[in-house]
Amino acid sequence: MFHSKIAGVGHYVPEMVVTNEELTKHMETSDAWIQERTGIKERRFFKEGVDTVSGMAANAAKIALQRAGLEARDIDMIVFATLSPDYSFPGSGVLLQRILDLPGIPALDIRQQCAGFIYALSVADQFIKSGTYKTILVVGSEIQSNIMELSNRGRNMSVIFGDGAGAVLLQQTTEHNKGILSTHIHADGTFAEELMLEHPGSKRKERFNKEMAEKGELLPVMNGQLVFKHAVQRFPEVIKEALDANSLNTSDIDLLIPHQANLRIAEYIQKSLKLRDDQVFNNIQKYGNTTAASIPLALSEAFEEGRIKEGDLVCMAAFGSGFVWGSALVRW
Ligand code: UT7
Repeated sequence: MFHSKIAGVGHYVPEMVVTNEELTKHMETSDAWIQERTGIKERRFFKEGVDTVSGMAANAAKIALQRAGLEARDIDMIVFATLSPDYSFPGSGVLLQRILDLPGIPALDIRQQCAGFIYALSVADQFIKSGTYKTILVVGSEIQSNIMELSNRGRNMSVIFGDGAGAVLLQQTTEHNKGILSTHIHADGTFAEELMLEHPGSKRKERFNKEMAEKGELLPVMNGQLVFKHAVQRFPEVIKEALDANSLNTSDIDLLIPHQANLRIAEYIQKSLKLRDDQVFNNIQKYGNTTAASIPLALSEAFEEGRIKEGDLVCMAAFGSGFVWGSALVRW
């Protein structure tokens, strides 16, 4: 029986730090409002000409490779989660493959927004369990600062989202009770329009024009309160689903890494699952919500900080636009 173990983790964030105070120069908001509602203190914004979604993923992947003691040529497949690909097409997976100089290996893009990394992990895990591939690079990378508008009309979203990348190397193992124990993924398209970026989509003859830009129709929209309500229900549900499937309890979790959507959501999950502070890892304070990158970015930082030890039970869970949600349980 094959399983996938996490052989290495890495992350990369752009250099430019944007504080809440900086945002107050562009819109009517305040450090107090942002911190109180989201827990965010600062985030990173990419630099044009320096950072790209595929390039940031490559930077994160190189660290993951080094920590795993592997070479890029050991990678059999790339699974790339992002809602902000370098191009409309082709996907960023092939660009990352080109940067890593791995012509021929398959590269798959996953478009599941905040749950993108969990979906990507789940897909990669199936390829390893089936014996098809031995080593798969799974990345989440996002540039979102240029989708938002730093203005009053864009403020409900632009204070939350940030840029960054994280990577994980999955490797085949036959060791018992090690690596990914399970993944569970879900979707409910009923709520597709509650958190979305509609344009430029294929629905209209004119994908975008000046009038749409002026009206603010090229900006993402979010029904924040509804997303919040669903998130705090789905997170605990899908975490329990993972624990039940493995006959484990919340007390068995050594570290929960929730998708970094909002610190208030993470606190709600912690409270509803009765987890101690040391059982939950959050870094949204420094990076904001980095969508598909948030879990591998947090995983990599938690690893660097010595919060994850051999044998630990690590639970990852996410919820986001779609709605899509999922969890992964890993024995480190
Ligand atoms: O990654 C997964 C996807 N996203 C999420 O999980 C996000 C889930 N939702 C949330 O985190 C919260 O709903 C938000 C943080 C987005 C918003 O917090 P809220 O407590 O739900 O605020 P609200 O949208 O109800 O807005 C409250 C007030 C409004 O003013 P009025 O109508 O009460 O006068 C907004 O116009 O706050 C106003 N507001 C702001 N004020 C200062 C909205 N954005 C801002 C802002 N600064 N940036």
